[in-house]
Amino acid sequence: MTLDSIALHRRSIRKYNGQAVSREELEALIRFAQEAPSWKNQQTSRYHIVASPEVLAAARQCLRGSNPQKTENVGALIVTSFKHDIVGHTHGVPDNEGGNGWGWYDLGLQNAYLLLKAAEQDLDTLVIGIRDAGELRALLQIPEDETIGAVIAVGHRVEDAQRPPRKPLDEIARFY
Ligand SMILES: Cc1cc2nc3c(=O)[nH]c(=O)nc-3n(C[C@H](O)[C@H](O)[C@H](O)COP(=O)(O)O)c2cc1C
Repeated sequence: MTLDSIALHRRSIRKYNGQAVSREELEALIRFAQEAPSWKNQQTSRYHIVASPEVLAAARQCLRGSNPQKTENVGALIVTSFKHDIVGHTHGVPDNEGGNGWGWYDLGLQNAYLLLKAAEQDLDTLVIGIRDAGELRALLQIPEDETIGAVIAVGHRVEDAQRPPRKPLDEIARFY
């Protein structure tokens, strides 16, 4: 598979078939995500991986909107986070106006790697931003020095999803 075909195969999948995802498969996703660049190589991104049926059921209840239904039959949920006040800081002082924003940036970069690796491995994903961070923190005892980001559902698709249209290049890019 080329990178182009992997990127096109990756879609947000909102209906899963219940097939399990192994610990080895999940570790491979995290290891690949670690190859992403990060601010001063601080590597502040963190992953809280839920795959056991009981905790998975409880974690799905921390999702909001229609996300609990969309994640029925997923193999795992990965709660992503980053250590704040470290990334983008030197001796506690923000390196520039980005500050902790660089933590979000680095986490997003790593998460993109994770999604593409999953697609290459024939695993499907859904990035979930509509979730209750406080409930997830309490359930998984996520330390207070971590900012909780998206939850990434991982599993196997029931059917292919349509590619939502992308904006024309001249709307999003300017060449100088
Ligand atoms: C930060 C972020 C948060 C998102 N949150 C949700 C969500 O809560 N529920 C959902 O169904 N999709 C969510 N999505 C998926 C987007 O709707 C999806 O990526 C977009 O429509 C483009 O579709 P595609 O991923 O198939 O290319 C989220 C995506 C991102 C990047």
